[in-house]
Amino acid sequence: MKALLLAGGLGTRLRPLTENLPKPMAPIANKPWLEHLIIHLRKQGVDQFVVACHHYSEVIRNYFGEGQNLGVKMEYAIEPFPMGTAGAIKNAKDFFHETFLVVNADIVHLPELLPLLEFHYRHKGMATIALTEVEDPTSYGVVEQDKNGQILRFVEKPSREEAPSNRINAGLYVLEPSIMNHIPSNQEVSIERQTFPFLIENKTGVYGKVINGYWFDMGTPSRYRQIHWDVLDRRSPLTIMGREYQKGVWIGEGSKIGNEVRFIPPVLIGKSVKVGDKAVIGPYAVIGDHCHIGKGVKFSSSILWDRSTIGDHCQIKESILAHKTSLSSGKLLNHSIINQSEKVMYA
Ligand code: GDD
Ligand code: MG
Repeated sequence: MKALLLAGGLGTRLRPLTENLPKPMAPIANKPWLEHLIIHLRKQGVDQFVVACHHYSEVIRNYFGEGQNLGVKMEYAIEPFPMGTAGAIKNAKDFFHETFLVVNADIVHLPELLPLLEFHYRHKGMATIALTEVEDPTSYGVVEQDKNGQILRFVEKPSREEAPSNRINAGLYVLEPSIMNHIPSNQEVSIERQTFPFLIENKTGVYGKVINGYWFDMGTPSRYRQIHWDVLDRRSPLTIMGREYQKGVWIGEGSKIGNEVRFIPPVLIGKSVKVGDKAVIGPYAVIGDHCHIGKGVKFSSSILWDRSTIGDHCQIKESILAHKTSLSSGKLLNHSIINQSEKVMYA
């Protein structure tokens, strides 16, 4: 089966982390989210992927190439300008001739596909939207359904009063290729604001089905950090790389830990990391591959991406520091988001 991964958004709410990076490439537990997603979908029987992208598309291409390392086939549909969620689907039309999947690649979820596909083949409509339930639906696409699951109304980002339910678009669709006939070419089109409402009004068969399991939109810095704490606290089923060195402390291959270092769980340390003497790491700390943590550093509730260097005696709290951050000794950071590098470097 083939999937189209929508990865062309600008990720504005995660700036400056996304200034030189497509949001789906932001690491989650030291691996780009897109890689976790592709591996998960491969296990569910998806073997061909098309990535719809524009903003820093070369970061994705350089990392995955043709997919050989992951045992899948990967192709790219690069947009001349951001074409919107439906415009991106139309732009990739030549890749899809059978029922296919579309996934918003910026949501951390590990969906089970089989129930969704079975439902889709049973109702024989043009589209199935995976749904999830949230307390506050106002930043999502909200649906109203009949008893068979057919969607009667799809409202993108309604106010509280306008929201017809708390069932929202989980950002995963099963689509028939005939949907392409309803999307204009070479222009920006939103599937949420234009295509779905149009198809629903014209009764082409747009259905929705609630999917279970962990679902979290990584949209903002605080949500991005929360996803990590959910991984470390094992509320999210995402695989953690590395050896569990003591309860709640995972350390990757080739890392060297100095004398009298204190780990306060939960902590995840990547591969080939050096931690200086007397550092205090955690609680809630994620340190990427090839990082260097100086002596006496205090690092908690923070995420550090690959290849960064933190000088001696720095104190870092509630922060996110992107690839190749370099901090001189003695810096104090609280609630900071730093992206110093011009070019993204994955280890
Ligand atoms: N290729 C391409 N081109 N992809 C795009 C473009 C574009 O012009 N614009 C957005 N995307 C991608 C984003 O990278 C993301 O993966 C996905 O499409 C959704 O766009 P967002 O900009 O992240 O939308 P949102 O988070 O405000 O809302 C969407 O997701 C919600 C679930 O998190 C909508 O689909 C909502 O209905 C949904 O509930
Ligand atoms: Mg989003």
